[in-house]
Amino acid sequence: MKYVSNKELQPGMCVARPIYGEDGQVLLNSGVILNESYIARLYSNGVPGAFILTDHDEEVEIPEVVTQRTRQNVIGHVRNVFESIELGKTFDMGYLTDSVTAIIDEVTANPNVLINLTDIRTFDGTIFAHCVNVCILSIIIGIKCSLNELELRELAIGSILHDIGKICIPTQILQKQGPLTQNEFDLVKKHTVNGWNILRNNHGIPLLSAHIAYQHHEQPNGKGYPRELLDEQIYLFAKIVAVADAYDAMTSARVYRQGMMPFQALRVIRQLREIQFNAAVADLLISSVAPYPIGARVLLSNAEIGVVVDVNAAERERPVVRLLFRADGSKYQLPREVNLMNEHSLRIIRSLP
Ligand SMILES: [Fe+2]
Repeated sequence: MKYVSNKELQPGMCVARPIYGEDGQVLLNSGVILNESYIARLYSNGVPGAFILTDHDEEVEIPEVVTQRTRQNVIGHVRNVFESIELGKTFDMGYLTDSVTAIIDEVTANPNVLINLTDIRTFDGTIFAHCVNVCILSIIIGIKCSLNELELRELAIGSILHDIGKICIPTQILQKQGPLTQNEFDLVKKHTVNGWNILRNNHGIPLLSAHIAYQHHEQPNGKGYPRELLDEQIYLFAKIVAVADAYDAMTSARVYRQGMMPFQALRVIRQLREIQFNAAVADLLISSVAPYPIGARVLLSNAEIGVVVDVNAAERERPVVRLLFRADGSKYQLPREVNLMNEHSLRIIRSLP
């Protein structure tokens, strides 16, 4: 199976896993063959994409760090919180707490899934799906920092609402294609202060969670915003969300550009450690994400093409690959698997779309 964005879904594709709406109901079950009206229904329900059955030779079981059902459900709750605050209404903190608890429970129950974040890339570019991804990545890093249950919850609430201040910024600026003017950028920067003010005035939101909204664009070199804090002045939670936010922003597609592959985004994070990101926290993200996740198509150094079927935790750059095509483009009749950890003459050049 593979994950396909809603924009790339085609009639005739077969659904590999049930697809859920934001209220938890099944929109389409596994085994259903997509047609135009099904695809339109997924689109109108805000479903960012679906797991689709692939050619038999490419069939792999993709582990989910958080189930699609929980993810869609949480996206719905985050949407409600954003809309309530925008309308100046209070929101039900209980739903939000339930949401983050569900995510924390699923992440901590699946320690082996931590390195297979195939499903975390979003394709719809909505702010709500992004918030949930940042929350998942932050929790994974938080667990590696040995945070306790209470701290994990504060981190989860702050990370899921880190961009809440964006409700005060005009949509045409947030979705603008191309570079922002200085005035527009100054306005965008204000989402940190806005977020801080919204959250600290909301009873039930821990103060540390509000600080995440305030500090998640600060950088250890003092060149971040809004206050140009130095590394030692930035809360650990904000450092975690800064890296998680950047990783998800890079790998998620936007209207005007395709998302980066995980291996490319990890390379950027590595280059910017100590500059834009706290080095130790950046290293924790790098060690948590598979550069070539299960299900990724990869080009090998001998020009053969394969699909990743398992990740080696000890050497994440060298997963187990099922060979599909020879260097001359001919298809293997009987695909064979190579464990790159044992085949040192071979390496991955890059992921393929
Ligand atoms: Fe932000």
